[in-house]
Amino acid sequence: MHTLEITDLNVQIEGQPILKNFNLTVPKGEVHALMGPNGTGKSTLAKVIAGHEDYEVTSGSIKINGESILGKEPDEISHAGLFLAFQYPLEIPGVSIANFIRAAKQARLPEGEALNAVEYYKELYAKMDALKIDRKFTARSLNEGFSGGEKKRCEVLQMSMLEPSYCIMDETDSGLDIDALKVVSDGVNMMRGPDRGFLIITHYQRLLDYIVPDVVHIMFDGKIVHSGDAKLAMELESKGYDWVQDTYVTAAQ
Ligand SMILES: Nc1ncnc2c1ncn2[C@@H]1O[C@H](COP(=O)(O)OP(=O)(O)OP(=O)(O)O)[C@@H](O)[C@H]1O
Ligand SMILES: [Mg+2]
Repeated sequence: MHTLEITDLNVQIEGQPILKNFNLTVPKGEVHALMGPNGTGKSTLAKVIAGHEDYEVTSGSIKINGESILGKEPDEISHAGLFLAFQYPLEIPGVSIANFIRAAKQARLPEGEALNAVEYYKELYAKMDALKIDRKFTARSLNEGFSGGEKKRCEVLQMSMLEPSYCIMDETDSGLDIDALKVVSDGVNMMRGPDRGFLIITHYQRLLDYIVPDVVHIMFDGKIVHSGDAKLAMELESKGYDWVQDTYVTAAQ
């Protein structure tokens, strides 16, 4: 029951099938990595789970802890405990990071209950310190003018402040220098635990040296074609996608 469960999911964009009978279960307490060539549907999957409206789900189900989230608004899905870190984070001019996260946390409280401002800033600063984010960033507009690495750190800050049950990270490692990669992975490792599941979409084994996944999935043409442990990412890196095609796609046909 304590899972993010995707069953026989079919998704199309403008009549074009993108996800094809896609199946994946991420139990709480586990970190799953999803790897696959460009255009295979990884970001589509992340966006469909988060409730993005551009995609047409033709069949299948997506459940959080047994409850269907298909057709729900992105806001409701986020309140249900899902956090999606985007490949290209949004910029929100005029809204500071501190106020953005505060509003998001407030929205998760029961009606009539107010967030304690002192406690909030205490937690925010502690987490910023842990993620090595300069405190001057609290006053800056969300992602506006941030470098790529600063955006990613800021996303991990949001993620750790919102304490989601399931985190999906779509190429959060792309464009990061070694120090920022370390900061982001430390953030994820700090958040790992029995009450939280992660789906980490990445192209590179490099990130998985820092965040060691419990399961690695290889996606090809809209579905997972093979899964294994952390060693699979290394094998993939050395053998490439032609090997995947020959071994797990063509052979299965
Ligand atoms: N909004 C859209 N309109 C039209 N086509 C789209 C849209 N979103 C995705 N696609 C198409 O769906 C396919 C899968 O795209 P997706 O972004 O999910 O791939 P990906 O696996 O994340 O690739 P990458 O590794 O390059 O990030 C691609 O062919 C893409 O062009
Ligand atoms: Mg993508």
